[in-house]
Amino acid sequence: MQPESIINKYYTKGSPLWVTLTEHSKAVRDKALDIVSNHPELEADAQFVAEAAMLHDIGIYLTNAPDLHCHGSYPYICHGYLGHDLLKKEGYPVHALVCERHTGTGLSVDDIKNQQLPIPHRNMQPISIEEQIICFADKFYSKSRSLTEAKTTDRIIKSMRKHGEHQVRQFEKWCDLFL
Ligand SMILES: [Fe+2]
Repeated sequence: MQPESIINKYYTKGSPLWVTLTEHSKAVRDKALDIVSNHPELEADAQFVAEAAMLHDIGIYLTNAPDLHCHGSYPYICHGYLGHDLLKKEGYPVHALVCERHTGTGLSVDDIKNQQLPIPHRNMQPISIEEQIICFADKFYSKSRSLTEAKTTDRIIKSMRKHGEHQVRQFEKWCDLFL
């Protein structure tokens, strides 16, 4: 599959939103591929990681996030499952799971209910090793500040604290496995 051809079907090539999406996704892809090559013991599928990392945020254009040049109608938190639905429709149900399993360090049904998030009540925690690596790599890159400058783990943890200690614990577990 060619991730670029799916991106270019929904995003205008060269537009500010396209630049934001593709630059961010490439940064996440490269970080994820570094983890794959540094950790052969994980036996992750590098080609799948490269493809799915490029597509993990494909749903953002449907959300209302003007700072990111997104002028859709859904709350930003919906971009994961919206991307899932889009890629499933395109015929890529396994790549689709990466989209809806990359918010924070993943969302359980209890997280979704307790926080009353406007998303479907299903388990959105990354399960496969490829899903976990992409979710982890994504935490290092912002879409609103510098697109290519990686955050430090300390900064990631600091901003993650407000979403709950269980998010921080999962991130620290991944630091031990992936760094
Ligand atoms: Fe992302």
